[in-house]
Amino acid sequence: MEKIKVAIVGAGNIARSYHLPNYKKRDDVEITAIADIKVERAQKLAETFGIPKYFSSIEEMLENCECDYVDICVWNGSHAACAIAAARAGKAILCEKPMALNLEHALMMKEEIEKAGVPFMLAVPTRYTSQAKVLREMVDKGELGDVYYAKTAYTRRRGTPTGWFTDTKKSGGGPVIDLGVHCIDRTWYLMGNPKPVRVSASTSYAIGDWKTKGVLRWQAEESECTGFDTEDSACGVIHFENGASLMFEVSWALNAPGENITQICGSKAGARLDPFVIYGETFGYLSDNTPETGYIDMFYEEIDHFIHCLRTGEKPCSDLDQAVTMQRILDGIYRSAKLHKEVEI
Ligand SMILES: NC(=O)c1ccc[n+]([C@@H]2O[C@H](COP(=O)([O-])OP(=O)(O)OC[C@H]3O[C@@H](n4cnc5c(N)ncnc54)[C@H](O)[C@@H]3O)[C@@H](O)[C@H]2O)c1
Repeated sequence: MEKIKVAIVGAGNIARSYHLPNYKKRDDVEITAIADIKVERAQKLAETFGIPKYFSSIEEMLENCECDYVDICVWNGSHAACAIAAARAGKAILCEKPMALNLEHALMMKEEIEKAGVPFMLAVPTRYTSQAKVLREMVDKGELGDVYYAKTAYTRRRGTPTGWFTDTKKSGGGPVIDLGVHCIDRTWYLMGNPKPVRVSASTSYAIGDWKTKGVLRWQAEESECTGFDTEDSACGVIHFENGASLMFEVSWALNAPGENITQICGSKAGARLDPFVIYGETFGYLSDNTPETGYIDMFYEEIDHFIHCLRTGEKPCSDLDQAVTMQRILDGIYRSAKLHKEVEI
């Protein structure tokens, strides 16, 4: 089988810890190049992972390497520039979450990607766990009935990432755009991706730059970002055209236990993930059942799905339209919080 060629932009944590190790597990993918504005990082990962070429910009990389797609692993504020450069070069795109810094960037990306006609997939790995796969199949078969309510939380008591993550100019925001994009996207997907219409949300800036000791944090690469102007928690409710609603809660710092909740409720049964339980009725009595799902590595599966789509021409599960809709939800959350009222999405 001919190898698919990937070039990576962004030689930071996500590339080093999750994307590159998963590419290296496959013999149907060839990593042809890597680029980072801090070229020494690209050089280091090129040496570690045996990548033949490294560059200091995506433009230089696109001019000097062969690739079928670009894997975008840069900070959020650079997603649009990299995606637009890749699209103009006619390359398919796998883009780390969130799609973009803000809705304006996301719409610019959409225009260029559609003009170029290249495949695009948003990297939202929690859609690709074995539990999520099985649950979405059950929802599609109608086994839960009409899904009309859902609840999700991705809260950390203390877990603010370092570096650019807290600088709105580079990140676009705090836990809403960083963690909300995981848990809201996953829950929305499990609800069957109904059309979002309204959102009411609030964000807090209560704890800020905490100094609590003994806590592990996601370490972004060093950058010139010194800002700390993002929210540290948020909550709200998203309403959908079909009448369903989704409550959410996210935090990087909150004086409450850290939680990771994905729960959907249908007219016939409900479900929670991690651990996976179906809340239904059996022979007329309440029953809690755990379907057998096995285990798959969500990062491996995400990449596997994208490569499968490139080979077959199938539409990715987290495609361009869904990525833009997710960005509209994030934009609605921030607008609602700013205006202190419900807003249309
Ligand atoms: N899927 C997940 O679970 C998950 C986890 C963490 C981060 N992420 C996402 O991955 C992306 C990167 O996060 P990270 O933690 O690896 O950050 P990081 O700071 O460790 O790495 C980002 C790298 O991008 C480089 N960069 C920035 N702009 C660039 C540009 N225009 N051209 C070339 N290089 C550029 C920086 O120099 C840095 O080395 C973010 O979008 C983040 O939201 C996803």
